Amino acid sequence: MQGLPCFRRQRFQDRMWLRNEGRLFGVVFVLFNVLLAVFNVLNYRVASRATVPCVVIVAPTPAPQVDTPVPTSPHRRAAVSSPTHPAASTASLAWTDTDATGEGNNTTTPHTQIVKIRNSTREETISPLNYTLPWETEQRDKYTVIKRYIPADGPSPAYEESVTLCTQGTFEFLQHVPELCDRWEGPLSVSVYAPGTDLPVAVRKILFLRKCGPPCVHLNVTWHLVYETSLAPTLLEAPMEIADMAAYEPVNCSAGFKPLQLVSEIRSSKKLPYPINVARNVARQLAVTRYVLASDIELYPSIHIVPRFLQLVARLALKEAGKVIPRRVFTLPIFEIKKEFPAPKTKEELVKRVKDGHAIFFHKWVCDACQNFPRRDQWLKNLPEKGKEDVLSVFQITKRQMPRTAWEPIYIGTNEEPLYDERLTWEGKRDKMSQMFELCLLDYDFYVLDNAFLVHAPGIKTLSSVDQRRRAPFMYKNNAVHNKLLAQMRKKYGPRKGC
Ligand SMILES: *[C@@H]1O[C@H](CO)[C@@H](O)[C@H](O)[C@H]1NC(C)=O
Ligand SMILES: *[C@@H]1O[C@H](CO)[C@@H](O)[C@H](O)[C@H]1NC(C)=O
Ligand SMILES: *[C@@H]1O[C@H](CO)[C@@H](O)[C@H](O)[C@H]1NC(C)=O
Ligand SMILES: *[C@@H]1O[C@H](CO)[C@@H](O)[C@H](O)[C@H]1NC(C)=O
Ligand SMILES: *[C@@H]1O[C@H](CO)[C@@H](O)[C@H](O)[C@H]1NC(C)=O
Ligand SMILES: *[C@@H]1O[C@H](CO)[C@@H](O)[C@H](O)[C@H]1NC(C)=O
Repeated sequence: MQGLPCFRRQRFQDRMWLRNEGRLFGVVFVLFNVLLAVFNVLNYRVASRATVPCVVIVAPTPAPQVDTPVPTSPHRRAAVSSPTHPAASTASLAWTDTDATGEGNNTTTPHTQIVKIRNSTREETISPLNYTLPWETEQRDKYTVIKRYIPADGPSPAYEESVTLCTQGTFEFLQHVPELCDRWEGPLSVSVYAPGTDLPVAVRKILFLRKCGPPCVHLNVTWHLVYETSLAPTLLEAPMEIADMAAYEPVNCSAGFKPLQLVSEIRSSKKLPYPINVARNVARQLAVTRYVLASDIELYPSIHIVPRFLQLVARLALKEAGKVIPRRVFTLPIFEIKKEFPAPKTKEELVKRVKDGHAIFFHKWVCDACQNFPRRDQWLKNLPEKGKEDVLSVFQITKRQMPRTAWEPIYIGTNEEPLYDERLTWEGKRDKMSQMFELCLLDYDFYVLDNAFLVHAPGIKTLSSVDQRRRAPFMYKNNAVHNKLLAQMRKKYGPRKGC
């Protein structure tokens, strides 16, 4: 009560000041807001800090130089023609797009008017309608997907008996696959975005990795292709014995990976964004197992996750018999390590690197909130007890809610989880955020695993202004899609406190 008159007087004086200095104030006010707007645009911060606290970069940019892969004993591929690929053993295929604008509405052979069967002695044009393509293809908006373009040679595990590591990339990143495969010890489903002239480069790299990489790559990795339908290859051969692929020179393992380390001209000249969520969804949906880890190609898993995880799930199933199981996913903490050090394989190694200051939580200098799960410092202190190094348990069960609405965990889940919105591009950033929001609205439980993690290929990420500028137009686009999506989701599921 005492303060009120004083307050009034103050307001009055303020008004006087306003009247006198109104014009100056107006100018300052407008200027301030313009600067603020510019600042916001530069920083790409949108209105609500709660839902959009920071941006995320998923697969950091320059393709790291890779040492010549160790040439392992080149193995012979098992006799090729698998029953699912009846045509693969007969001849190579070339398909041409006679009509560049021809959209067509046929989902089995999109964009393909003519299929040529090529053979060293004759070339014959046949109707695609009369010919079983050796692959299943799919149209996803403007993209064509070639499913299982090169299937794994090894036996496919049963649905419940493994976990599939699902990942994606452009050809510049494929050299990470052998490391992923070696650590994973289970099936991998990899989709490769390769429009136009990128396609032969990508295929050549895949062939190189299959022939010259560790046996794991040809045994356990299944490759899918994704490209704009309008940039379909003029020639797509059925992958058979490498020697039979007329379009490709024989792979020379001792020459290494370097000669294949080219830059994509088509993507830069046509300013094509990377449709990361198309690739992500494709890799995930084509997994052969119930459990899937949809991850990024530069994130290396710690070792022995698959058997340990299956044991964990079996233990949970015993405990929860007869109960209704809430929606849940199993998340893995993510780290970055300095480029001088090898990526840790066990939690012990990892914790030591963190203690020495050589490893940090993922994106600590780019977006700390993105990997800031509750009690994460405690997670680092929790080392497996002696004799329990081989056990995976749940560190804690949490929600992705306020104040952790920027948390972008990567998790083991199933194909029942919502898909990623395919209009969001990698360049536009925040490409997983709307899916995370959806999980929040669906009230998912997040089980943080205690003895498993992901670590980014060595090298710590910082923000680059050149990169930011190049990506700005795509960020505007993603942002618009993102806001629309969130609104749609709120309508669909109803609002939920904390999301
Ligand atoms: C190529 O065509 C010739 C003649 O039709 C046939 O005899 C031969 O087996 C074919 N080669 C392959 C690799 O299909
Ligand atoms: C799509 O299919 C319908 C029925 O098969 C056909 O009449 C129509 O011409 C097709 N459209 C295009 C663009 O091929
Ligand atoms: C695609 O073409 C085949 C062969 O003509 C036809 O049977 C099928 O209905 C077509 N599919 C669509 C979606 O138009
Ligand atoms: C389809 O293939 C069969 C057997 O090769 C041939 O007899 C027939 O004429 C073909 N039909 C068309 C439409 O090409
Ligand atoms: C390939 O995957 C299977 C499970 O599907 C696993 O048992 C095997 O160890 C893997 N092979 C390699 C070389 O990692
Ligand atoms: C393979 O590459 C090595 C190293 O570059 C080279 O010396 C060798 O001649 C190549 N072999 C063939 C068959 O091209």
